[in-house]
Amino acid sequence: MSSGKILVTGGCGFIGSNFIRLMNDQGDVGIINLDKLTYAGNPNNLAGLVVGAGYDFVHGSICDSDLILSLLQQNEIVSVVNFAAESHVDRSIRSPEPFFETNVTGTLRLLEACRMYWDQLAGDQKRNFRFLHISTDEVYGTLEPNAPAFSEETPYQPNSPYAASKAASDHIVRAYHETYGFPVLSVNCSNNYGPYQFPEKLIPLMIHNALAGQKLPIYGDGQQIRDWLFVEDHCDAIRLVLQSGRIGQSYNVGGRNEVANIDVVHAICDILENRRPHSDGGYKSLISFVADRPGHDRRYAINCDKIVAELGWSPRESFETGLAKTVDWYLANTTWVKDVVSGDYQNWVREHYGD
Ligand code: NAD
Ligand code: TYD
Repeated sequence: MSSGKILVTGGCGFIGSNFIRLMNDQGDVGIINLDKLTYAGNPNNLAGLVVGAGYDFVHGSICDSDLILSLLQQNEIVSVVNFAAESHVDRSIRSPEPFFETNVTGTLRLLEACRMYWDQLAGDQKRNFRFLHISTDEVYGTLEPNAPAFSEETPYQPNSPYAASKAASDHIVRAYHETYGFPVLSVNCSNNYGPYQFPEKLIPLMIHNALAGQKLPIYGDGQQIRDWLFVEDHCDAIRLVLQSGRIGQSYNVGGRNEVANIDVVHAICDILENRRPHSDGGYKSLISFVADRPGHDRRYAINCDKIVAELGWSPRESFETGLAKTVDWYLANTTWVKDVVSGDYQNWVREHYGD
């Protein structure tokens, strides 16, 4: 990866903000963060970063082609990392359209602006330019209990509107390489968890509700399996792919941590019980089985052999150490949680889970 400035989109979200912190700590590239600040985008995720000292924030959308082109040109951007997305499956089921607007049209507009910019570059600047697209394992659909884990060759079979929109964006990214020779890279990762995750997703929702003495809603029988990865390990994989990934390739990233949802929630309750014992029957007494998510994928698992073999990536955290760090982070950052649990969030909880 060349030094210079990289454009990160969606950098005020969960994974993007962790990635910006990682890159900023390493200090050899400047960062422009373009974020629309939807309900999931939180400038507090980057508190402590000084604007101007190698970091700049721009409020705007990846759907805005003119803005993107001018940012690329004015800052002589060397690489783009696209995190910007609508990312929550349940919201995509209730209201699919914003998912297609940002994840599909937005990715297309971003790609097209980047291609126009890249077309005008020459020499090393052109050779070294990269567009790294952040995708998900959900594009592959669901796995039977004993089926082999998703590899980069697994056919796409998305089941939720969110997954379908991400699959569409992956195809556009791939087509830009095949058609225009545009230098793309993709990462398809499994479920992330860790600091700064919005408490609508399973792990932070359960921590938040348990501490508030509220029900812990488990969809269906709770036996759905996800392959959990600590967010900093994902960010490290993204850094490696940006640095040394082969142009046109996608890389699957996962933690080799297949855990059923009910076991995730039990593990959270056990850690909380140890840190802050529940006075009234234990945190597990808050568990409540609720109606299942429509089209709920039963199992995800990632075969990450390619990134391990090609780029020497390996996760630092086990599920046990990562989950304990995560619970401790939420216990230590109650003000952050209070700030994100805004009116909009309360409306979502009422609409989705009922009173
Ligand atoms: P997030 O919802 O926490 O953050 C998304 C960010 O994108 C927010 O800051 C939001 O304001 C911004 N955004 C939304 N629409 C935008 C637009 N039109 N223009 C500019 N910014 C916009 O999501 P996340 O969990 O950090 O996920 C980031 C990426 O990683 C997504 O592409 C997601 O599909 C992918 N991913 C997530 C996971 C996971 O477990 N969270 C796993 C694999 C892949
Ligand atoms: P989630 O964090 O929404 O991620 P994804 O749907 O992208 O995998 O959900 C993780 C798993 O937890 C998924 O199987 C759905 C389940 N789940 C619940 O059982 N209850 C909840 O309240 C939520 C938000 C998720």
